[in-house]
Amino acid sequence: MLKKQKPTDLEAWHKLQQNSIYDKRTLKTRFYEDRERFNKYHIKWDGILFDFSKNHIGSETFALFQELLEEANVRSAIEQQQSGKKINVTEDRAVLHTALRNVSESPIYVDGEDVMPSVKDSWAQIATFSSEIRSGNWKGHTGKRIKDVVNIGIGGSDLGPRMVINALRPFITDEINFHFVANVDGADLHEVLKKVVTETTLFIIASKTFTTQETMQNANSAKEWFLKNGGEQESVAKHFVAVSTNAEGVAHFGIDPKNMFTFWDWVGGRYSVWSAIGLPVVIAIGFQGFQEFLSGAHEMDKHVANADWSRNIPAIMAVIGIWYRNFHNAPSHAILPYDQYLDRFAAYFQQGDMESNGKYVDRSGNRVNYPTGPIIWGEPGTNGQHAFYQLIHQGTDLIPADFIAAKKCQHKLRKHHPILLANFVAQTEALMTGKSRMEVEIEMRQAGINSEDIDKIAPYRVFEGNRPTNSIILDELNPYHLGQLIAAYEHKIFIQGYIWNIYSYDQWGVELGKVLAKAVLNELRGGPPHNHDSSTSALINYLKN
Ligand code: F6P
Repeated sequence: MLKKQKPTDLEAWHKLQQNSIYDKRTLKTRFYEDRERFNKYHIKWDGILFDFSKNHIGSETFALFQELLEEANVRSAIEQQQSGKKINVTEDRAVLHTALRNVSESPIYVDGEDVMPSVKDSWAQIATFSSEIRSGNWKGHTGKRIKDVVNIGIGGSDLGPRMVINALRPFITDEINFHFVANVDGADLHEVLKKVVTETTLFIIASKTFTTQETMQNANSAKEWFLKNGGEQESVAKHFVAVSTNAEGVAHFGIDPKNMFTFWDWVGGRYSVWSAIGLPVVIAIGFQGFQEFLSGAHEMDKHVANADWSRNIPAIMAVIGIWYRNFHNAPSHAILPYDQYLDRFAAYFQQGDMESNGKYVDRSGNRVNYPTGPIIWGEPGTNGQHAFYQLIHQGTDLIPADFIAAKKCQHKLRKHHPILLANFVAQTEALMTGKSRMEVEIEMRQAGINSEDIDKIAPYRVFEGNRPTNSIILDELNPYHLGQLIAAYEHKIFIQGYIWNIYSYDQWGVELGKVLAKAVLNELRGGPPHNHDSSTSALINYLKN
């Protein structure tokens, strides 16, 4: 059972509070005073460089970070999670996405039963099926190979495979096109159906519960389309497979249980890309590529469990996040990948982080009196630079940001990569150093601008700087390093949630909207009106008419 402890009762928390008040040196000053700063505050491990030197920390803060991790007993929490203890208390479940990538031979027990044999069975089933699709042995109803895979799912049953397939585009087969349908807005499915034909399309209906309204509606519409466009009831089995924990629901929908890929209740939706939910990824990159992806994550699992706190990438990411959220009043955290292939990465961790740590009730059932999970947002660089970076540079909130890049690029347009990386580095430098009034004045004078105009305009051209960033550089964006990167963020989220004394693995906050949507739908379809507030009733009536 995870320890119930208010972070505000921890001694290290109070010391950090003090530290944040009296050590207000700017980042520029810190670098000026300590030439060894980068050497002290970076980690190079297994193809990843994690530079956290451009943060508001000094040796005392860094020591306190480690004290916090120690005093909060984070090591034991990680051990409990990875060994299959039921740490998801409100749903009475273990949390074992780490078992899904346990490529070692060690067993992992839940309720006294080793889960690894069933994980390995699932790998075997996925490996066989995906190679049938990839090789073209699997034929559609007219005897043709599959050319389009349509994943129908939402949330964790969509964002993971979508993000990973995007990230690994240079590694995916070009024999098959991949499509994703998530939104219940019919436009989403409609636009995909325009591009595919029944004979060569495989639909993967991905839903842990197999009850999610959006996914079920999209799946039913896809089946109707299939039957109306040349597909027959007997050929549904060749074109529809399911990934779910709900065998009954899958059978009821009409999918052959042979074509169901299962996983377990101890896999949270937003942590399920490592399970059969990753089936589109396996079809895209092959099972060997998927194993590399799992191996990268597994190495990160061992790293977080064993590395000293001072060398522990996810643990440091976690406490840096807490540092800004709780001691510097930062409401949000930006994830800025300088890699177009990671264009869905921030969106993926919006769910990963915000559904995990967007909570105000602690592990004792009480309301917390300190901030928990921040707003996570971001887009790939350099696009973001020409859109929202203004606010990061000169806005009124402090926005800590993770800059992510790969040293080697995965395409042939070699001239682009140095430009991309130059922007990556320059932005972290600019955010840190800023530009003083004096620098602005000199620059303007040199440009021949008169004193009056300098006085008028200079304030707008000053950058305070002192904005913190982490830089994460992968040797290259391949399945292995992507696995490491995702796992690092997952562990960061868990460590933060644990220190904040909240349960990171449930998501009760999304339930109310689902229930109300069903009631409203009934009314929109002509059912009896409920007793709503005047706005809700008026909106329903307006839409009904
Ligand atoms: O509504 C939130 C949620 O439950 C997520 O946690 C989950 O990833 C998503 O819906 C989809 O759920 P399912 O895989 O059961 O369809």
